Parts: sequence; C-alpha cells; structure tokens
Amino acid sequence: MKNTVTTFKEAKNSGSKLTMLTAYDYSTAKLIDEAGINGILVGDSLGMVCLGYEDTLSVTMEDMLHHCKAVARGNKNTLLVCDMPFMSYQTSVYDAVSNAGRLMKEGRAHAVKLEGGSEFSEHVKAIVTASIPVMGHIGLTPQSVNAFGGFKVQGKNEAAAKKLIEDAIALEKAGAFAIVLECVPAKLAEVISKKVSIPTIGIGAGNKCDGQILVYQDLLALFSDFKPKFVKQYAKIGDQMKLAFSHYIEEVKEGVFPAPEHEFAISDDVLEKLY
Ligand code: KIV
Repeated sequence: MKNTVTTFKEAKNSGSKLTMLTAYDYSTAKLIDEAGINGILVGDSLGMVCLGYEDTLSVTMEDMLHHCKAVARGNKNTLLVCDMPFMSYQTSVYDAVSNAGRLMKEGRAHAVKLEGGSEFSEHVKAIVTASIPVMGHIGLTPQSVNAFGGFKVQGKNEAAAKKLIEDAIALEKAGAFAIVLECVPAKLAEVISKKVSIPTIGIGAGNKCDGQILVYQDLLALFSDFKPKFVKQYAKIGDQMKLAFSHYIEEVKEGVFPAPEHEFAISDDVLEKLY
C-alpha cells in the first residue's frame, strides 16, 4: 500500500506506530521499501555515513539531489522525505521554497524535512503553501552542532523543554505534517507528542513518540566511527562484510576464485587459431 502524508495523519489518529529509516541509494531503498516501512528519509546524515564528513554542514543541494534521485528509483510504496541541507533554507523564505521545489521536481521526493522551530515558521508556511509537505525536526538538530557546542541531548532544563514544546506547536501551526524529535528526554517527547495533533517521529526520544526513525547504517552496524546510545543494532552487517571481503582476498590469492562456474567458454576451433 502506498504511504502518503494521509497515512501519517491516520496513524496519529489511530495510534498505530509509524516506521522510518534513512536510505541514500537505489539498492538499499528497494530493500527497505520491500520490508514494508512507512517512510524513507534521504537524510543529510549522508554527509557523515556516506561521504565521511565529521558533520552534516558540508552537504550540498547537489549531494541531496543525487542521492534522492537514486532512492526515488528504488522506492515504490514509502513516503519519500528529503532533507534540506545546511544553508538551503536558512538564508531566506525564497531560498527555502525554491530549494524545496528542486528536491520535489528533480529529486522526486514526496516531502522535505528541515531543522529548526518557531524561527522557521514563515519558511515552513511558504513551502506548505507551494503544496510541498514539510516534516519539522527539533531537539538535537545536527546542522546547529556548532551553536550547541557538540552533539548533545536537548531540552533537559525547564526553559529548553518549554522552548521545544513551543517549537513543536509552532511547526504544527505553520502546516508541518510531522516532526522529528531527536535526542530529547523520553518524558519530554511524550509531552510534546500529546500536545500536537501531527505525528512525532523519534530518534533518541523514547517509545512514546508516534513513530521511530534510525539511520540504517546504525541499525546494521555498518557505521563504526561511533555508536549513539539510542541505537539498537539489529544485525552486525559490518562484521559480515569485512569477513566476506577477507574471504574474497584469500580466495583470489590462492587461485580458488574465480572457479570454472564463473568462467565464460570459447570453442576449441577458435582457440586453436589463436596460437
Ligand atoms: O539526517 C538524518 O538522517 C536525520 C535523521 C537522523 C532524523 O535527520
């Protein structure tokens, strides 16, 4: 069944949990789609897990478009959300609408996601007015890593917690169809989820959110630079890959691979004429 923003709205109303994962390429998108997930996010986390940057700040619109197009080709049934990279919307409402439009037209996304709360209400409103669904993202917003002084849990004191609640309400008022809550205390995420009528999608925000999202490399233990506390590794694919790579190296060195079944034949008549 095709997932749309309506699916997200209905899930909030019925209380059924929403599931999302990130993807950045055709083959992975296809597997995730076939597994029956509600939504795929082409996250700007691609800067870290695919491109090897230390944060997401260097990711460009061209990077996002390149990966979103690939994911769109592998995706059939999920709601495809594409991140707006750093400085693609912060600069002006015009830039926000224009770049969101590119992610939809060229990237074939079904929705865009941007980081920030009430400061970006006008941006969200304008994008939604252009018929582009917007997913908000508050809490630990990685594009603000320098302003935060590191990747830290957000909303721990009263003022910060109240600001996050206000931000969530502002995003809903501006027309966002869902909000990612990243690295916020579980009880605060529960309060926020009750205060808004759009679904909250948690990552490091406990199980009272309306849905969950993870970076797929974290879930499969493919990304080994660090492991956030909120990640559960459902399989150790990184270790299996390393084992397979070593096995391949060994077999090539020993002349075991390629074996006869991997070879192409030529007739003896032709072969004789070559000597
Ligand atoms: O970029 C990303 O992958 C994200 C998720 C962690 C929500 O924003």
